[in-house]
Parts: sequence; structure tokens; C-alpha cells
Amino acid sequence: MTSKLKIIAAAALAAVFVQPVAADNVKVGIITTLSGPNASLGQQMDQAIKLYNKLHARDIAPHTVEIVLRDDTGPAPDVARRIAQELITRDRVNILGGVVFTPNAHAIAPLATEAKMPLVIMNAGTSVTTTLSPYFARVSFTLWQSSFPMGQWAHQAGIRSVFTAVTDYGPGHDAEAAFTKAFTEAGGKIAGSVRMPLANPDFVPFIQRAKDANPEAVFTFVPAGRQATAFMKAFGERGMREANIRLIGPGDIVTDEELPNMGDVPLGVVTMHHYSSVHDSPTNREFQAAWKKEYGPNAVPGFMAVGAWDGMAAIYHVIKQQNGKLDGDRTMALLKGWKHESPRGPIMIDPDTRDIVQNEYIRRVEKLGNALANIEIGTIPQVKDPWKVFNPPK
Ligand code: PHB
Repeated sequence: MTSKLKIIAAAALAAVFVQPVAADNVKVGIITTLSGPNASLGQQMDQAIKLYNKLHARDIAPHTVEIVLRDDTGPAPDVARRIAQELITRDRVNILGGVVFTPNAHAIAPLATEAKMPLVIMNAGTSVTTTLSPYFARVSFTLWQSSFPMGQWAHQAGIRSVFTAVTDYGPGHDAEAAFTKAFTEAGGKIAGSVRMPLANPDFVPFIQRAKDANPEAVFTFVPAGRQATAFMKAFGERGMREANIRLIGPGDIVTDEELPNMGDVPLGVVTMHHYSSVHDSPTNREFQAAWKKEYGPNAVPGFMAVGAWDGMAAIYHVIKQQNGKLDGDRTMALLKGWKHESPRGPIMIDPDTRDIVQNEYIRRVEKLGNALANIEIGTIPQVKDPWKVFNPPK
């Protein structure tokens, strides 16, 4: 290199170094349930998102994240659609996240597609949901993912007759179908089935019907949070334990943050799920410690918090990779195949389906010290959504 060229090269390098990186403010629209009987679910999400931002802001510096938080009030597709519309057209967010309830996600799908607006689904767990928009990616779970292996486990555990009781909407229908398929294919018998209302359910008559059918176990899905606690109380009050009828299901029915509100009824309940707050890994210990430091020693983050926490990790990933300037198609390309070490264990977004691949854990509720906990007793590694395996994308 001539000395003149060397000077030019050095000047060019210096220019690169002194050029300040433009700091972008990325607007993240969060749609979740912050009021009404299911408000505790959105609260878990909101707390996780706030804590993630607080602890990880420097990961995306000099860019910043601005959360635009909206309350969809519960399973209310019309409200969700209106909020999503406002976030996209008025607030001009760069990406959407959140959504507890399946019907809300379904209402948002056409808007996401039309606006090429990615939605990182942090909860809603009906299998078909991710097929409704190419701009949906899911970091939470599906009910098929937990309830299909639950059906296989139940038969292996020697259970031969099960009564199913599920909430009458997408995730409940999926849980019922997945469990029934796995359990009956293994040779088990369904002793009866009921579907329970999503709004203001009184569980007692349904549990009475289950008791009258005299199965060995009841398989249940109800939405996590206060509904799960109400179901558990009714199960205790109907004397199911005394009648020797076990309770099994996906982990929604014994979600960690509600265990302290359930009395002793859940003791011995076996569920299949992707997250237990006592999961033994360095990443989870760190997450649990950060949560307790922020929200108090008795605060417990459950799977709803972990879904939001990992959803933020996914959003930070696409911000970093695009240097603060988000493009819908590029964001989706980056989410496909994304891998991450979550408090629940290793996770991946399946590049073909945009749905999550993760471990499922078989867990039993036991006393740990003074409190109840979902103790993991087995692992099924890296489960893909079984519904999508049976119904591959065309
Ligand atoms: C859903 O509506 O998809 C949903 C809600 C609560 C759960 C699981 C799934 O616990």
C-alpha cells in the first residue's frame, strides 16, 4: 500500500469509528389481559416484560424499547381487534407481543397479515393459531404439546378410565382431542366428557357429573389463574379425593403462582407442562432470583411470566439483528429457527411452523418446605406441536 493509500484507509477507518450509531426507539405494542376476572394473567406478563426491559436494556444499546401496553379485558376478540388496529395505525408500533386468549389472537390475525406486522404470541395456545397469519410466531406452548404426552403417560401409569372436563373453546377443545387421541390409542377408555363455559363458570355441576361417571381420573383444562384455583376448590369440595378419583391435565390447572391459593387439594396432582418455577437449571435460578428481588420474596413467576420473558428475548434478538430498524418480513425470517436458553430449558422456533419446540416435563404437586411445588419427575425432550406433526403445513 502506498503511504497516500494508507492515509485514506486510516481516515476511512476512523470515519467508521467516530460515526455515531443512530439510536432507534423501537415501539413494542403489548396486548394482554389486565382487568376482569383473568387480570392476574396479564399482570404476570406485564411484570415479566418490565423486568426484562430493566435488566436487558443495555443489550440493545444505543437503541431503546418503548412498551405501549393495552388491556384487552379478557377473552374479547372485538376489543383485541380494535386495540391491535390502534397500535398499528395510530401508535405506529414496530412489533406486537402478548395475547393471553386464543380468540383474541385469532381476531388479530388478518390485521397482522395486512400490515405485515409480526406478533410474538406469549401465551395463546391453540394449535391452529399460528397457521392464521404468516406474521405470527409463538414462544409459549400448545395444548397439544402437553395433553398428547399426558394421554400417553396416563396409560403408562396404569390409568384405564378417564373423564375429560375442558373449557369450551379452542385450547379446551385441543386439550380434549389431544389427550383422548393419545390415551385411547394406548388402550384407555373415556368414561365421559363435558365442556364448561369460559365466562363465569360454576364448576360444581361438571365435577359432580365426573364423579357420577366414577372414572379413575379426571383430565381437565381450564385457563390458568383464578379459574384454575376455582376448579381446584370445587374438586376438593366435591370429595373427589375421598372417591379415589385422581386429577390430571396440562400444567395450566396447577400454575405455579396460584398454588399458594389452592390449599392442599392439588397435592399429588400430576400434570404435563413446559415450565415449573422449581425447574432446576442455572437460567431458571437466575430468573427466579431476579423476580423475587424485584417483586418480593413471596412473588412467584409462572408459565405466563416465562412466556412473556422469552417473548421479550425474541424481540430483543430481532432488534439487535436489524440494528434497531424493524422490517416485518426480516423480523419473521429472524424468528424462524431462533434458539434460546429459557428458564424452562432450551427452546426453538420451528422454522417451518413458527411454533415453539421445547421440553415437556411430567410433574407432581408435592410439598417443598412449607409451600406446594410442581416437582419434575420426567422429561420429554424437544416436543414439536403434535397437531402440526399430524397436520403438516401444505
Ligand atoms: C388460551 O386462550 O389460548 C389460553 C388461555 C389460558 C391458558 C392456556 C391457553 O392457561
